[in-house]
Amino acid sequence: MGEFHIRSLTHAQGEIQYVTHPRLWGHGLGTAIGRQLLHIGFHQHGMHRIYATCDPRNAASAAVLNKLGMTHEGHLRHTMELRDGWRDSAIFSILATEWRTNTSS
Ligand SMILES: CC(C)(COP(=O)(O)OP(=O)(O)OC[C@H]1O[C@@H](n2cnc3c(N)ncnc32)[C@H](O)[C@@H]1OP(=O)(O)O)[C@@H](O)C(=O)NCCC(=O)NCCS
Repeated sequence: MGEFHIRSLTHAQGEIQYVTHPRLWGHGLGTAIGRQLLHIGFHQHGMHRIYATCDPRNAASAAVLNKLGMTHEGHLRHTMELRDGWRDSAIFSILATEWRTNTSS
């Protein structure tokens, strides 16, 4: 399942989040959900930039975001406090122009 959030209407900024059942990992479902969420964000809501964050240790999520054509922008420090301490987030984004180029080829 996935969620698309409008984070700023003024600046046309959105965020995607997704999760798939472990039994289904590695079959392309996460990428398909992400692609559909980006389609919704750019085509239905007119976003200019859509971003996603993930745990920097989450290689599968980073692989999905790369496959979606998103660019790794960097690390946000100490965004979440978990049981084993503070965790950073990797942040990725894609612009509407990049999405249009990727989907038209
Ligand atoms: C991230 C997640 C959604 C991926 O779902 P999925 O259905 O397995 O995604 P896909 O099959 O489309 O792609 C997974 C990719 O990760 C790669 N991958 C998996 N484990 C990996 C690892 N340890 N190192 C590097 N790549 C890895 C797979 O090879 C695949 O890439 P490929 O198609 O190029 O081979 C799923 O693992 C999940 O729900 N995780 C928990 C929640 C989460 O992290 N959500 C993302 C935060 S927004």
